[in-house]
Amino acid sequence: MMAEIKCLIFMVFLSVIVVGQVQANEQLATDSGCMNCHKIDGKGIGPSLKEIAAKYKADSGAEAALIGKVKSGGSGTWGTMPMPPNSPRISDADIQTIVKWILAM
Ligand code: HEC
Repeated sequence: MMAEIKCLIFMVFLSVIVVGQVQANEQLATDSGCMNCHKIDGKGIGPSLKEIAAKYKADSGAEAALIGKVKSGGSGTWGTMPMPPNSPRISDADIQTIVKWILAM
């Protein structure tokens, strides 16, 4: 019985960490201005984050390529609307964190 309770407490503890991390990432994306143009679901000015994740699911080089694109901006992959450069306004470390979060969706 004690072992089950310990296990349950551990699982609750883990899920709090995971949920907290996801919320922290979403907050970082909001604070970085990404969410002005991107929604998690559904089209904004830019493609939805879930669409981006789906497009690059099988592409192991996607993380590096997308970090580069978010830094310097660009257009033509999703339409004619350009994404402005986000670097150096947003730090490289934050861009990497947000891109990893997007690709894990
Ligand atoms: C002013 C609006 C705007 C902002 C702010 C913005 N984006 Fe974008 N983003 C776009 C548009 C538009 C596209 C589509 C570009 C294209 O078609 O190539 C895009 C595309 C992307 C893509 C996919 C690129 C590709 O080549 O498939 C990623 C990933 C992305 N944005 C992440 C971010 C992140 C992370 C931030 C915040 C640091 C951010 N965006 C901020 C408008 C924006």
